[in-house]
Amino acid sequence: MKRKQPGRCGVWLFGAHGGLATTIIVGATLAARDLVSRSGLLTETPPFDGLALAGLGSLVFGGHDVRETSVFDSAYEVYRANGTFDLEKLQAIHDDLNAVDDDIRTGTAFNCGATIRRMSNRKANRRPRRLRELIESIQQDILEFQERHDLERVVVVNVASTEPPLPPEPRFETLKGIESLLDENDARAVRASVLYGYAAADLGFPILNFTPNSGCLVPGVQVLARKRGAPFMGNDGKTGETLVKSALAPMFKYRNLKVLTWQGYNILGDRDGQVLADPENKRAKIETKDGVLSSILGYPLHTHVGIDYVPSLNDLKTAWDFIHFQGFCDYRMSLQFIWQGCDAILAAPIVLDMVRLAEFAQRNEERGLMTWLSCFFKSPVGVDEHDLHFQFQHLLDYVQSHLAGKTWPGSGRVAKTGKTFLPE
Ligand SMILES: NC(=O)c1ccc[n+]([C@@H]2O[C@H](COP(=O)([O-])OP(=O)(O)OC[C@H]3O[C@@H](n4cnc5c(N)ncnc54)[C@H](O)[C@@H]3O)[C@@H](O)[C@H]2O)c1
Repeated sequence: MKRKQPGRCGVWLFGAHGGLATTIIVGATLAARDLVSRSGLLTETPPFDGLALAGLGSLVFGGHDVRETSVFDSAYEVYRANGTFDLEKLQAIHDDLNAVDDDIRTGTAFNCGATIRRMSNRKANRRPRRLRELIESIQQDILEFQERHDLERVVVVNVASTEPPLPPEPRFETLKGIESLLDENDARAVRASVLYGYAAADLGFPILNFTPNSGCLVPGVQVLARKRGAPFMGNDGKTGETLVKSALAPMFKYRNLKVLTWQGYNILGDRDGQVLADPENKRAKIETKDGVLSSILGYPLHTHVGIDYVPSLNDLKTAWDFIHFQGFCDYRMSLQFIWQGCDAILAAPIVLDMVRLAEFAQRNEERGLMTWLSCFFKSPVGVDEHDLHFQFQHLLDYVQSHLAGKTWPGSGRVAKTGKTFLPE
């Protein structure tokens, strides 16, 4: 089968001035200019050869944020705090970064909780007169960006701060429910993530929700995205402690070692840590981090996920995990690990991998859940299987099926019981 070739692809980032968004923009620009290697990018490894993914140099960045700054200033801030970029190289791409400023617009901090409200500017904090108007203005910003750069496709990525979790709302379950909520202008029921998700889904643009803000992909938004022909996936990028958990926990299963306790303690600095210091916002994160273990092991166990804000660490997140397990003759043993990862350095390449794969999916007329991206998420929507090995194989199966020129059977749920793939 003859495949369409990729054109220039827009990447619209909600949270465009954040540490992660900045690392995505800087990293892609440096790698496209061969000023850094491509390590960390899975799509640059042999299994992806021949897949005709969009080149890093063909990506054009824009987005919304609620704070005013410039991309270069954000990059300089990341450099000062974490030393993750080389200053000389940053200066070499100064003009490229300045050009992205023209494509960043003020988003909405509407109903995102006190911590986000405090860091947002006046415009972002404005209460919308009508929710539909706000959605239209978000869409207009993205469409103007697409037109300005003559982009064939735009992939929308949510990398905004973690919001407090949404209270249960039955109207989110259906598209009709969301439409009625918007028609009634019921502002209390929604957060910014819902408006962003709805706006992108309605445009039929691929959506990646890298945050724990599940509002972005509530079931009603998923229905809309599918209807408009958009592929989508979330929630909450898996980059650190949870990644290690989902790789290690299956090992205990493979040897019938019973895990009694898995105690995890995370400390992190920077703005993400500051936002997560608010107990309301933290609740959303703990919910996505805590579900993984009992799902992999298949039985309940004592777990704890602690997250504390330690300003001096900046983006160098540290996690200490203590695993207490039982073996033959009921003998008890333990495993401990310490993970010290630079959050944005781990996250940025997998966002770029997913942008390329989402663009590829839409180019190949695939719509709905991109379950093959589950290995990148803490709470993969529609995938009950959290075992990293299974998830990774699912991605390889998808890639190999395309390389063999076969049509992928479609997007569907992936059941826990093993390799079953249930097309929608
Ligand atoms: N390893 C990782 O970096 C990683 C892993 C998994 C998930 N995440 C999630 O990605 C998100 C971004 O992480 P970060 O480290 O870049 O945080 P950050 O605080 O540096 O950046 C978040 C950005 O979002 C902006 N923002 C807040 N509310 C917004 C809104 N309603 N609309 C538009 N912009 C808004 C903020 O002004 C800020 O610039 C967080 O939700 C985090 O939990 C990150």
